[in-house]
Amino acid sequence: MEALFKNFFLALSSNRMLNKMAKRWGLRFGAHRVVAGQTIEEAIATVKKLNEQGLVCTLDHLGEFIFSEEEAQQATDDCIRTLEAMAASEVDCNLSLKLTQLGLDISEQLCMNNMTKILEMASKHHNFVRIDMEDYAHNQMTLELLRELRIKYRNVGTAIQAYLYKSEQDVRALGRDRVNLRLVKGAYKESPKVAFPNKADVDENFKKLIALQLKSGVYTAIATHDDQIIAYVKELEKQFGYSRDQFEFQMLYGIRTQTQLMLAKEGYTMRVYVPFGNDWYGYFMRRLAERPANVAFVLKGLIKK
Ligand code: FDA
Repeated sequence: MEALFKNFFLALSSNRMLNKMAKRWGLRFGAHRVVAGQTIEEAIATVKKLNEQGLVCTLDHLGEFIFSEEEAQQATDDCIRTLEAMAASEVDCNLSLKLTQLGLDISEQLCMNNMTKILEMASKHHNFVRIDMEDYAHNQMTLELLRELRIKYRNVGTAIQAYLYKSEQDVRALGRDRVNLRLVKGAYKESPKVAFPNKADVDENFKKLIALQLKSGVYTAIATHDDQIIAYVKELEKQFGYSRDQFEFQMLYGIRTQTQLMLAKEGYTMRVYVPFGNDWYGYFMRRLAERPANVAFVLKGLIKK
């Protein structure tokens, strides 16, 4: 039943027509629980509150299904404005983005140019940019673009998905260039030809990648809401004496808030991924796919905005 729900919401997440319509609706169906508003001002206000609670953040100006140069340009400007707003308000926050937002499906060169503009601005403000990892079809292109960008910029990293068979090889290769990685389980629907179909195998591979990356001494973000994985990281920390300056935990805004606060209180760097903007639909559907139990708040949202 759970798999059925998961597939249903993942299919909804990639429905372009609903995505387009949702932009006009404003935050609906309880999406405000996991999306920090539609404007930069609202997002910065949320980040400030989280910083006050001892949590650091990464802001994501949501955007999917970009097919024109103008839209990619608009998304680039949004990222630049977000970096400027973070610097002006002196919040403890970096930036996360998706390359398809910046035109990866239109042309790699366009995406590269847009990414360069963003990294110039991030460098000016001594900030860091994380490239989210999207579906398998974009995986190799993302890694190649990252490699090119890192020739000039060191303040850029990416995310690696434990559900992909190729990820161990990627972590080893990126480790040689000391790329700051966010390790995640993986959020998209992928074929068993490229990804572990069973959750237990994904969890095992996730642990393997975490151990590998921590051992390499390269900065690691472990992005999960899973208590077992968090306990595993703490165990490795104890066993090998890893410094807390070498890794951080990351969770999504609005999910397991008490655990986020607890980890910060225990002295870990806890970074909250804070998405905002009017393109909330796909992101929200992927969160529902991860936890169909959350549909309860969608049903409530249908009655009350
Ligand atoms: P898992 O899904 O196994 O859940 C473990 C437990 O966590 C659940 O039993 C439940 O208690 C709780 N939980 C999980 N999801 C929840 C939810 N939505 N609501 C309430 N409770 C929930 N993916 C990707 O493909 N590319 C990327 O770039 C990123 N980036 C990213 C950044 C950050 C900061 C996070 C936290 C996650 C991502 N992801 C991602 C998503 C990631 O791949 C994965 O889909 C989710 O984190 C869910 O997996 P968990 O590790 O949380 O465990």
